[in-house]
Amino acid sequence: MDQREVLYFKDNNKDNFIGGFSAVVLAAGKGKRMKSNLPKVLHKICFKPMIFYLLNSIYKANPKNVFIVVGFKNELVYQYLEQNFNQAICVVQEKQLGTANAVAATKEYKNIFAENILIVCGDVPLLSTETIEKILNFKKNNCLNAVVVTAQTDNPYGYGRVIKDEDGNVLKIVEESDANSEEKQIKEINTSIYCIDKDVLFNLIDKIQSKNSQNEFYLTDIVELISNDESLKIKSYKVDDFLEVEGVNDRVQLAKLEKLLQKKINENLMLSGVTIYYPESVFIDIEVEIDKDTIIQPFSFISGKSKIEKNCVIGPFAQIEDSFIGEGTVINKSLIQGSTIGKYNVIGPTSYIRPGTITGDNVKIGACCEIKKSKIASNSKVPHLSYIGDAEIGSNVNVGAATVTCNYDGFFKNKTIIEDG
Ligand code: UD1
Ligand code: MG
Repeated sequence: MDQREVLYFKDNNKDNFIGGFSAVVLAAGKGKRMKSNLPKVLHKICFKPMIFYLLNSIYKANPKNVFIVVGFKNELVYQYLEQNFNQAICVVQEKQLGTANAVAATKEYKNIFAENILIVCGDVPLLSTETIEKILNFKKNNCLNAVVVTAQTDNPYGYGRVIKDEDGNVLKIVEESDANSEEKQIKEINTSIYCIDKDVLFNLIDKIQSKNSQNEFYLTDIVELISNDESLKIKSYKVDDFLEVEGVNDRVQLAKLEKLLQKKINENLMLSGVTIYYPESVFIDIEVEIDKDTIIQPFSFISGKSKIEKNCVIGPFAQIEDSFIGEGTVINKSLIQGSTIGKYNVIGPTSYIRPGTITGDNVKIGACCEIKKSKIASNSKVPHLSYIGDAEIGSNVNVGAATVTCNYDGFFKNKTIIEDG
């Protein structure tokens, strides 16, 4: 059992909070290893773009402001942020010349940055608020000008290695492609998370050169510049759990982190009183609410702004998106989208409930029915093979098998009204 605390679930520990930081999230890279036309940070984990989780953790730590450096297909990232995190400030890095160049793109905002700048890559979805706070506190408590966050791993291949002197002081970071065979043996890696004084960062960022195997401006070089300056103090902070800072570079890592996060979401629901049979086959969005004693059967997917009240039986093979499901409702092998379902309904098998549908209590929608943007009042039944579209059906109505409400006359969509009884 995974005992890690992935901290989306735990409330911010306010006593621990120091505040006074700005965050810079680097998300301009193409993510070559994803082999995708979609920017890496928009690839989904548990129904949401991976950047959702990182920004969620950052915002819970209460930053002064958050800057996202975008580049490759920036209009798509911009659009997502506008709709979901509209307080974030997007900065465009015109050419992807390296991580230092990406940070330098934020320079024009220097005046509104807080004194501490937290720098994180956009591809670390499991970073928790608690760890962010620990990093900020570590910097403050040790009166540092900079912190470089590191992790220990048995498989350091591909990461920058942390070079230290015999007293454990950080000297520099060496990238995989620039490391010699001795340096490649080092198992302490750079996570690409840093917290640096605003003035130190912006004074040094332009001093970084691109003399390396990739001809890129590496942000990692700032570590050596700080460490070489007698007047500045830098230390490394090693995170307890490598998984929390593991980056997504390809789709295998994407799947690995998704699995970890889904396990945690399901475990939290089970601990709160929801039964999930064969949880490895059940996929639930982090924002979904499910009340006690509801049972989720195998191969079910519940996503978006959905809420399921108590004592329901969902699945097997149910798909519920952006819907409300009232107490005691049973949904078997059906797809429900954007609908409000009353209490003690029985739905399925194999029915399709489309957006805008509202049902009262004790409604039955049986096998192979399609209901679109319709109201069905309490105690009514649509038991077999019907299409009900743009209709209002009163209470105590029994719709015969294979009934169709013809809503479209070739010009207009018309409403069908069937009154009570
Ligand atoms: C980087 C670090 C490496 C560290 C690793 C941890 C450097 C030079 N190396 O390597 O030490 O171990 O992260 O995961 O920093 N980006 C931009 N603009 C650019 C280039 C990159 O915004 O011009 C963004 C990318 O979108 C990505 C992040 O910066 O989110 C890191 O870039 P990536 O190419 O993944 O660096 P790594 O090779 O992983
Ligand atoms: Mg990376």
